Amino acid sequence: MRQFILYARKAVTSPDFSLDDLPGSGGRMDLVARCICNALWISHDLRRDSCIHVVACGSPNPPVVISLYGDRLRNVSPDERNIAAWIKKALASKRRNPGINIRKLSFQQLVEELVSEGNFFYILHEQGRDIARVKLKDDSVFVLGDHIGLPGEEEKFVARFEHEKISLGTTSYLASQCITVLHYELDKKSSICIAGE
Ligand SMILES: C[S@@+](CC[C@H](N)C(=O)[O-])C[C@H]1O[C@@H](n2cnc3c(N)ncnc32)[C@H](O)[C@@H]1O
Repeated sequence: MRQFILYARKAVTSPDFSLDDLPGSGGRMDLVARCICNALWISHDLRRDSCIHVVACGSPNPPVVISLYGDRLRNVSPDERNIAAWIKKALASKRRNPGINIRKLSFQQLVEELVSEGNFFYILHEQGRDIARVKLKDDSVFVLGDHIGLPGEEEKFVARFEHEKISLGTTSYLASQCITVLHYELDKKSSICIAGE
């Protein structure tokens, strides 16, 4: 399973945000929704081998981990507004979607849980090792920061476990763009493996 963690320091933790103002009232819920779209959708289908955990650290009740699973999502479409609407419903515990899970969990607790399941971590950072020199493991956890980046304290915490800090180059991309590039690299790698079988 390809897993992504997005640290979203401002993403709100209550359903009281407006779908007409995802950046403001949602605490950059637009960024969150774009990352979810890029993590879970391809053209005309969902990526059933992928999930994304959003660590929402905004008001009023942080932290909350919102996990979305490509193999279980139902009736969600890949536009930002629809994704945000489902997050709103899940935060209100109004309508259950089998592919969306909401938990009162911190970033570090989530990492510990994924460590206990035997996962390897890649920390995405402009100053990491060039991805071209890294033999990416497919079933891993990719950790990304939001518009401000991953807090140093959280990066140090992940670095206590099996990990590698990797870079897509010195250009600072949007977190959602990084997810697309990672999928592309992993897809390319797995199609080469299949062709070589
Ligand atoms: C918009 S960037 C944050 C930029 C922020 N100013 C910083 O210094 O971290 C959002 C996240 O995307 C990832 N990212 C952006 N560009 C990257 C790159 N060239 N290589 C690896 N990760 C990158 C990082 O995880 C980063 O925290």
